Amino acid sequence: MGIRVSVLIILLGLLWSTGPYFYKGHKGCVECHSPHFETDGACVDCHRGDSRSHRIHIAHYRLIQGEYACFTLPDNSVVRDGRRLIDTSGCRRCHETGHQGNRLASHLDASLDKTLPEALALAIKSPAVFMPNFYFHESDILKLVNAILASSAVYASDSNETARIIHFEKNKEDSDNTFNKHCGSCHRVLTQQLGGLGQGDIGPNLSGIFSRFYFKSFKDDKFWNSKRLRQWLKNPRDIRVNTQMPPVKLTEDELRHLIHIMNP
Ligand code: HEC
Ligand code: HEC
Ligand code: HEC
Ligand code: HEC
Repeated sequence: MGIRVSVLIILLGLLWSTGPYFYKGHKGCVECHSPHFETDGACVDCHRGDSRSHRIHIAHYRLIQGEYACFTLPDNSVVRDGRRLIDTSGCRRCHETGHQGNRLASHLDASLDKTLPEALALAIKSPAVFMPNFYFHESDILKLVNAILASSAVYASDSNETARIIHFEKNKEDSDNTFNKHCGSCHRVLTQQLGGLGQGDIGPNLSGIFSRFYFKSFKDDKFWNSKRLRQWLKNPRDIRVNTQMPPVKLTEDELRHLIHIMNP
């Protein structure tokens, strides 16, 4: 009995001496903020942070700021707008979000755990080489990040499979392939086998073109497939009267190789 009491006293002493943590009389976040949404949960449920500390940099650890916290509210219009932007921009050509999409780039359902909202916003504002620049307005970036986080909050536990790897290094096969030779001056594409190919931004980024996450931009609201791509390359103007793209002459071997590497 005596030993138990002294262990308890030592533990209490330790807690006391850890200072800012478990600070006596500390009321958590509301020490500095006026509360809101009190019936919807604790501050840290929506904003993260550490409510045990009164030191601002600890209390704000991995904080989700107000503008990125909209996704915590049910049926939120910011999230709805963001989801619409994800659909119309074709983000799922390359990313999985909301448990749907190609895995040619990072799995966005892992975002809530892995990446701070500010970093997600920055990645959209100043995109990586093989991600198109959409020139979004700041307010649209906020909507996109909230939509990504909303899906991530639901699907995070499914996102643990290893993300497929993008190789950026140059090797012989990379520079000799049909895409780089005949399309790469105007287009880019992310591929499973060869990573990112091409360096042109005149034409659209063709990543995931044979998947249902690419635009239905062939003709009459139709998806692309290998047969339709062949038709297009023979003479794009047969499909789209005013298109800027010139016909590309390819041998049957080159065509087959091209279709093979563009398949996600
Ligand atoms: C010691 C005082 C203090 C404590 C404790 C504290 N905050 Fe803050 N918080 C501030 C101040 C000051 C700012 C504004 C300056 C800044 O952003 O650093 C701020 C900013 C914020 C913002 C950003 C507001 C925005 O622009 O969106 C959020 C969200 C927030 N705090 C939530 C929390 C939460 C949640 C906790 C508890 C886990 C907490 N704070 C604990 C002082 C505090
Ligand atoms: C149900 C989710 C939710 C809970 C719980 C919640 N917040 Fe918020 N918070 C939000 C949202 C959404 C925003 C941005 C929109 C708004 O201000 O209404 C926000 C904005 C903020 C801001 C910045 C804007 C402002 O009002 O100054 C601060 C600071 C903040 N919250 C602190 C807190 C603190 C402290 C608590 C705990 C007492 C808390 N929040 C609880 C969702 C929540
Ligand atoms: C053509 C392919 C492609 C498309 C389309 C695309 N991205 Fe990306 N995205 C990338 C690549 C490549 C990266 C950087 C490498 C990586 O994170 O996998 C990236 C990175 C990101 C990141 C950073 C992820 C992290 O964890 O750091 C975010 C956020 C993001 N993209 C959001 C979007 C959104 C939102 C859209 C649609 C508006 C979009 N992307 C469309 C290819 C694409
Ligand atoms: C000289 C530049 C150039 C070359 C080379 C080129 N393209 Fe294009 N491509 C374009 C332009 C510009 C567009 C956009 C046309 C438009 O908006 O109508 C385009 C559009 C496309 C489209 C339609 C995509 C969509 O969603 O609308 C496909 C598919 C395509 N190109 C495939 C290819 C392939 C495959 C190659 C190589 C075999 C290639 N292109 C070579 C310039 C080029």
